[in-house]
Amino acid sequence: MREEVLFPSWPVWDEKDVEAVSNVVRSGNWWCGAPSERVGENVWEFQKEFSRFQEAKHCIAVANGTVAIETVLLALGVGRGDEVIVSDYTFIASASAVVAVNAVPVFCDIDPETLVLDVDKLDSLITSRTKAVIAVHLGGNPVAMERLCDKASKRGLKVVEDCAHAQGSRYRGKRVGNWGDAGTFSFQASKVLTAGEGGAIICNDDVLAEKIYSVSDCGRKPGEYFYSHFEYGTNYRLPELSAALLRSQLRKLPAQHELRNENARYLADRLNAIDGIRVMKPTEGAEEIGYYIYPIVFEPSKFENITKEGFTKKLNEHAIPTDDCYPPLHGLACFRNVRLRKGIDYSQANWGGEKSDDALFPVVSDIYGRSVQLPHYVLLADREGLDYIARTVERIRY
Ligand SMILES: Cc1ncc(COP(=O)(O)O)c(C=O)c1O
Repeated sequence: MREEVLFPSWPVWDEKDVEAVSNVVRSGNWWCGAPSERVGENVWEFQKEFSRFQEAKHCIAVANGTVAIETVLLALGVGRGDEVIVSDYTFIASASAVVAVNAVPVFCDIDPETLVLDVDKLDSLITSRTKAVIAVHLGGNPVAMERLCDKASKRGLKVVEDCAHAQGSRYRGKRVGNWGDAGTFSFQASKVLTAGEGGAIICNDDVLAEKIYSVSDCGRKPGEYFYSHFEYGTNYRLPELSAALLRSQLRKLPAQHELRNENARYLADRLNAIDGIRVMKPTEGAEEIGYYIYPIVFEPSKFENITKEGFTKKLNEHAIPTDDCYPPLHGLACFRNVRLRKGIDYSQANWGGEKSDDALFPVVSDIYGRSVQLPHYVLLADREGLDYIARTVERIRY
């Protein structure tokens, strides 16, 4: 068995990336300006290029994936006293953005196979205070958006897609982010498209897109005088230097995306053939997956009751990189102890104190305890590397 490190590191960069950033430095145009008074070109061009890649009408670039969600919630009018349903299995940002706008996140358990929000559980969580649902496409695996949007429109709810993991994911013919009212993206260092930090919002509604832009740029309106501010907004702009790097990185993404999808299918065939192993199942209707992470769920009894830590250690000992899984949100200290925003009533939430009980979120609690995940750059390895992963997993039981 090959023992040396087989896996590419991340980020993948070359001289074109260096040149893209250097060109901005040399130009002296270090910020983008506003649509009516443009200074640099990279933010504006990146918005066009990313909306083309995601097949959306509008793209508004912002500082990161967290403020992308916050901006959309503000633009949709979500605020104090509103409830927003969020998957329990995600990074804190999907819920902290809800808290930031003084609304209350309500956590939804996941589907045991696809690991994303279980749409069948939505009905039991909707109350008269529910204003929106945030569909997190964990690991790029799309939430069943057709059913979710159908339910949301019947109940008059807004839909935000958190696509931080899902650049390029396609579900039933449409790229994710185009199903709901808006889709948000992160370009933080570990993401499949990155400039270290960064974010974007896509949207197909002209009026909402203008609002989103306004919230992210000090309440300005495109085409209006720079110092006119029409509503509440703040500075969540993407820096020009980051946009230059993102444009250069975006040119590499389609080939990487295709390879990840090919390799993910190959690895799934190899790993699912091992007794006691199953990988995240693509949602029915998923045609392409962003694969920010590649979750593997194991049956401890088939591996001499190995723990998640033990399983991870075995992979790492064989130079296979892993990422930690997200601890389910309901159990995080900030939610368990209800240490959040002053003056907001969280008593109706389905978490906090005794409600932050794993037994009330049985699927995610079970999966979290017996899963590991591979980072996306593992899926850029060659076939020999993927076979090596499968052989290593198989031998963990011995
Ligand atoms: C699902 C999800 N949503 C939102 C974010 C927030 O993105 P950022 O780190 O760019 O603020 C992340 C970041 O890891 C994420 O994983």
